[in-house]
Order: sequence, then C-alpha cells, then structure tokens
Amino acid sequence: MARVAVVTGGTRGIGAAVSKALKAEGRQVAATYHSNDEAAAKFKAETGVHVYKWNVADYNECVSGLGKIAADIGPVDILVNNAGITKDGMFHKMTPDQWYGVINTNLNSLFNMCRPVIEGMRERGFGRIINISSINGQKGQMGQANYSAAKAGDLGFTKALAQENANKGITVNAICPGYIATEMVLAVPKDVLEKAILPQIPVRRLGQPEEVARCVVFLASDDSGFITGATLSANGGQIMV
Ligand code: CAA
Repeated sequence: MARVAVVTGGTRGIGAAVSKALKAEGRQVAATYHSNDEAAAKFKAETGVHVYKWNVADYNECVSGLGKIAADIGPVDILVNNAGITKDGMFHKMTPDQWYGVINTNLNSLFNMCRPVIEGMRERGFGRIINISSINGQKGQMGQANYSAAKAGDLGFTKALAQENANKGITVNAICPGYIATEMVLAVPKDVLEKAILPQIPVRRLGQPEEVARCVVFLASDDSGFITGATLSANGGQIMV
C-alpha cells in the first residue's frame, strides 16, 4: 500500500508544492487547509489530492480531522507540519492577538498534529515527521518576535521528538526555508523586500516552493531512516549554520 502523507496548509504556497511532490512520489496525500475554500477546490481539481478543512491551532479539530483521514485513506505514515501564518509588527506595538495567533498556529499546531498520530506510528514502527520551521527561527527577525519564537520552538520540539522516537522507526526533522516566492513573502512591503532582504541572499533571488518540496521528499523517503533530529536549511545561502 502507498504510504499516507498529510500536509498541513497543503493547498497553497510551499504546502501545495509539497503535496504535489509527494503525490508524484506515489504517496497517498491529504492536504489540510484552514479557510480558503476556493483555492482548495481548485487545487483538488487540478491535482486529485484529497483536501480537508480544519484549524491546526485547535487540538480537537486535529483529532477528528486525522481520524477522518485514517478512515478515508489510512493511518498517517508521513506528516508534514507546514501550516503557518505571519502577523508581523515591532514587538513594542504587538498585540496579544498577534502573539497568540502566531504561536498557536505555528507552534502549538505541532502538538495538536503530532500527538494524535505518534502512538500509531510507534505501534507500526514507521513514521516520518517533517516540520517546516524558518530561517527566522534560526536567526531571529525584526518585526517577527512572535514568528521567530514559534519557529525556534519548532526546532526544539523536532529534536526532542526525534530522540523519543528514534528506536521506533520514526524520524523527525525540520526544514528551514529562507525567503520563498509565496504569497506570505510577497506580502512583505516591497521596499523592505527589495532593499533589506534580497541583498542578503547570496544566490540573488527568492527560493521557489518546489525547492523546499525537494527537501521534504528526501526526508520523507523510506531510505532516509538514518537522518533524524536534523535541520535542513534551504535559504539561498542567506545564513549558514
Ligand atoms: N530586514 C531588514 N530590515 C528590515 C526588515 C527586514 N526583514 N523589515 C523592516 N526592516 C527595516 C526597514 O527597511 C526600515 O528601515 P529604514 O528605517 O532604514 O528604512 C525599518 O526596518 C522600519 O521598517 P518599516 O518602515 O517597514 O516599519 P513599520 O513599523 O512600518 O513596519 C515591519 C515594521 C512590520 C517589521 C515591516 O517592516 C515588515 O513587515 N517587515 C518585514 C518583516 C519580515 O521580514 N517578515 C518576514 C515575512 S516572510 C516569512 O516570515 C517567511 C519566512 O519564514 C522567511
């Protein structure tokens, strides 16, 4: 049976590229999304990927959504925690909604998604968990105290979960994309993007979603079992850690 992969935020941006790449590898892919029904319907029609709507910031919705996927397709073998949002602003002006919104969606979602699937992966002796963190979780970013905190938290979570499950056939890894040409990055003020960000990228361009998807395919493979707790950077050389 083809392995079952779930990609959160899997109908747009980096997630859409990941869903397509995993499907091309022969996985049975379920993509979750939060609110954009139109984009999800279009993505489903174009790709044939199953789509499911729920909020990854809500534990109970994750439990019931993952239960539905298990019933429809099968238990999850590959989980890609990709869903993420930004609510940028300088910290001295940041509201509780900006802080908690980003922490809940970008960090607490990892608990909400991993906890319901981890026991099954341990019982079956196989799992691939890939957390999409960010360059800004590695280096920090002005205007993103909330996002940088969440994405750095994703890295600590990845390493702890990797250690706990290494002897059960489960790998847990993180990918840190740099600035990728998605709606999220293109929402950065144009002058900031052009004057402050692009000059910091040695390859002199934004990344493409497919370039991150390649990393996911690699880490999700059956034969990547010796790689766990790793952080794979895909940032055009912007930082080298
Ligand atoms: N890198 C370097 N300098 C930056 C910067 C950045 N990312 N963002 C802002 N600055 C600089 C500006 O160029 C400006 O400098 P000058 O005064 O010399 O012109 C200064 O900081 C103040 O910026 P603003 O005038 O824009 O101030 P503001 O209060 O109106 O807005 C802000 C502040 C909300 C931080 C806004 O600048 C902004 O949204 N910046 C982008 C922040 C960012 O990089 N977000 C990443 C989003 S993409 C993402 O998160 C995906 C991922 O994982 C990489």
